[in-house]
Amino acid sequence: MKAIVVIGAQWGDEGKGKVVDYLAGSFDYIARCAGGHNAGHTVIFNSHRFILQLIPCGVLRPDKQAVIGSGVVVDPAALVAELENLCKAGICLDGRLHLSNRAHLIFPYHRQMEKAAEAARGAAKIGTTSRGIGPAYEDKMARQGLRVCDLMDPAGFREKLERVVREKDAVCRAAYGTPLDVAGLIEQSLELGERIRGYVADTADLLNGALARGQSVLIEGAQGTMLDIDHGTYPYVTSSSATAGGACTGLGIAPTRITGTVGVTKAYTTRVGSGPFPTEMPDLEASQVRDRGREYGAVTGRPRRCGWLDLPLLRYAVMINGIGSLVVTKLDVFDTQREIQVCVGYCYKGSPVREMPPTAEQLAAVEPVYRTLPGWESSTYGIRDAASLPQAARNYLKFISDDLGCEIGMISTGPERDATIVPPGTKLASWL
Ligand code: GDP
Ligand code: IMO
Ligand code: MG
Repeated sequence: MKAIVVIGAQWGDEGKGKVVDYLAGSFDYIARCAGGHNAGHTVIFNSHRFILQLIPCGVLRPDKQAVIGSGVVVDPAALVAELENLCKAGICLDGRLHLSNRAHLIFPYHRQMEKAAEAARGAAKIGTTSRGIGPAYEDKMARQGLRVCDLMDPAGFREKLERVVREKDAVCRAAYGTPLDVAGLIEQSLELGERIRGYVADTADLLNGALARGQSVLIEGAQGTMLDIDHGTYPYVTSSSATAGGACTGLGIAPTRITGTVGVTKAYTTRVGSGPFPTEMPDLEASQVRDRGREYGAVTGRPRRCGWLDLPLLRYAVMINGIGSLVVTKLDVFDTQREIQVCVGYCYKGSPVREMPPTAEQLAAVEPVYRTLPGWESSTYGIRDAASLPQAARNYLKFISDDLGCEIGMISTGPERDATIVPPGTKLASWL
């Protein structure tokens, strides 16, 4: 029995999709615990590029069971579209995708409200993915959300949705001066409901049963630590628990069941959307890294902001998530770099900062303290064993690992499944 959580250690897009796809080979179940189709998890194998948004990456391996837990917010239209796309690629999920009956639903009016709210914020906008994620979690917490189990009962669903829509329409008119667009909503939702009915299950029961039988679960986090609603760079965050704790609440698995946490970081840092980013590079350097790393949002296509590796941020991520093993992705993106800057600390108003600043304003005002390390100026692309890495690359990884007091259990040297190094003798190797 083992349950391993894979979590983003930065602001998302660390390469969790690739890592989960690789690790999934050693697990029976792969489960998404949080977020929604704001996530875009890329997996490349056999020259085919998959971008998964709601469905766990493990489904790309034929014999794996996949779970979408109750902590995920599900847009039924997005789920059906993703199922259809996978089906076209020859990946059929019947009998092996299980959708929590307790997961909350996203409706088109959530997107409408989000767009209006973002527009109203003006320059202070969060830069969301416009998928309706925030408003759906708002409704969940306000105890006026509708869930998958509601959709499975058409008569009850109709009544509940009509009531909620009446309230939301009043709010929308008062706040944004526009009515809620709900034409055809009930019928469309019920139709989508029928298309997903076959996947609906009590997934907490399913996963706990699997663990009790000695089967293994790989938990696929979405977003990243600094986008977490409690621990991230609030208010420039997403609306869910993107840290390891979210794995338990989002799946109904007890903390005592979790065997370990794997944190994923790039060899540098990126962020999409607004908010503080202490190690952000100047435009020219950022555009070079963006080009080499193809740093454009998997979901929205937006250019990602790029910066140096931020060790204070990773120390915080190690602490908040209890990361036992770190995965460093995109090492190859630094192959042509002559020198590499690493942020080893922050200063605020001239004094060193010990704790992660709680406000976005304070974090935006910190001055990063950098160490300069030599680059390796040779190709690491596709390398599969640590001994073949150039010495300067090994030194860079050791510097990170020593600073964080955390092993590096995996190194990714390219987007493909097999461009991966798993050094033997690590904690991560023992979890596989
Ligand atoms: P996720 O949201 O954490 O799953 O990450 P994304 O899929 O949004 O973004 C990561 C991007 O980096 C994708 O385009 C991956 O194909 C790519 N990628 C992952 N690992 C590596 C790597 O080691 N090297 C390179 N060059 N690209 C990688
Ligand atoms: P994966 O799982 C990167 C960011 C958005 C925005 C903020 C809030 O692929 O790593 P939201 O739509 O969630 O309300 O937007 O969070 N964001 C992500 N950034 N990767 C993600 O997911 C993200 N999901 C949300 O850009 O800044
Ligand atoms: Mg992504």
